[in-house]
Amino acid sequence: MKENSKRTVLITGGSSGIGLASAKKYIEQNYQVIIVGKTEDKLITAVNEIGGDISSYVVDVTQIDNLKDLYEQLWMQQIEIDILVTSAGLGKFGSVLDVSEKDYDLVMNTNTKGTFFTVSILKPLIKRGGHVVLISSFLASKHIPLTSVLSSSKIAVETFTKIFAREFLDDKIKVNAISPGSIKSNFMSFANPTEEQQKILTANMPKILLEKRGEAIQVADAICFLTSEKADYINGAILSVDGGISVS
Ligand SMILES: NC(=O)c1ccc[n+]([C@@H]2O[C@H](COP(=O)([O-])OP(=O)(O)OC[C@H]3O[C@@H](n4cnc5c(N)ncnc54)[C@H](OP(=O)(O)O)[C@@H]3O)[C@@H](O)[C@H]2O)c1
Repeated sequence: MKENSKRTVLITGGSSGIGLASAKKYIEQNYQVIIVGKTEDKLITAVNEIGGDISSYVVDVTQIDNLKDLYEQLWMQQIEIDILVTSAGLGKFGSVLDVSEKDYDLVMNTNTKGTFFTVSILKPLIKRGGHVVLISSFLASKHIPLTSVLSSSKIAVETFTKIFAREFLDDKIKVNAISPGSIKSNFMSFANPTEEQQKILTANMPKILLEKRGEAIQVADAICFLTSEKADYINGAILSVDGGISVS
């Protein structure tokens, strides 16, 4: 593999929200940053906005062939990964009676299958002593009407975190997750709840102890912490970055 004095971080969902904020943070820390997303225009905008040692790949994480192509392209360039962050994710709301098969598949394929195969396919490129950070959600431990599919998709991510941490032990790769609370990003505009759904969500939403929504940069700070030497003794953990919503 190519000798590179810089450490390399690959971030799925790096064109927006938490992934984008993380890409900015790692650039500030002099990393080589690779961002992955589904929409080319958004990736180009992100690369131009961030600047520095950053490149992007159009990859739909629900498509195994896309992930294998990404692996091939990185392998051909002899790129090894120090840190893999899987921030690609989305949500749709609906009760058990009205979630369509299309929305069910979209959420599960993106959040659960996409996360699983991103790690599985890119694993051979992750350096010994490297890090994987998966992105869960506070919804994994809450039971809020209309979120059954989204919540379940993230429970799986938390289980992946713990089992991957054990499976990657021999390679000294640490696997942790962040569980964000309600964070300002494009997440809700994509989920696009109807007025009626929004009322139900608001009525059932637990209190945020700190009484405000979070910023993507606050989640990015926690991701950077988990992949720093300061988190040397943390493995298989789910770190809540949620203003205390998980305890209310
Ligand atoms: N914001 C919150 O309140 C919140 C709370 C808890 C957990 N989370 C989790 O945090 C993660 C990041 O979300 P965010 O808040 O930053 O939302 P966001 O601003 O909507 O960003 C989502 C990112 O994921 C990418 N993405 C979606 N589907 C993809 C696919 N099939 N293949 C590749 N990339 C894909 C998007 O790219 P395209 O636009 O090109 O599709 C975008 O870059 C998600 O896993 C989400 O579940 C967010």
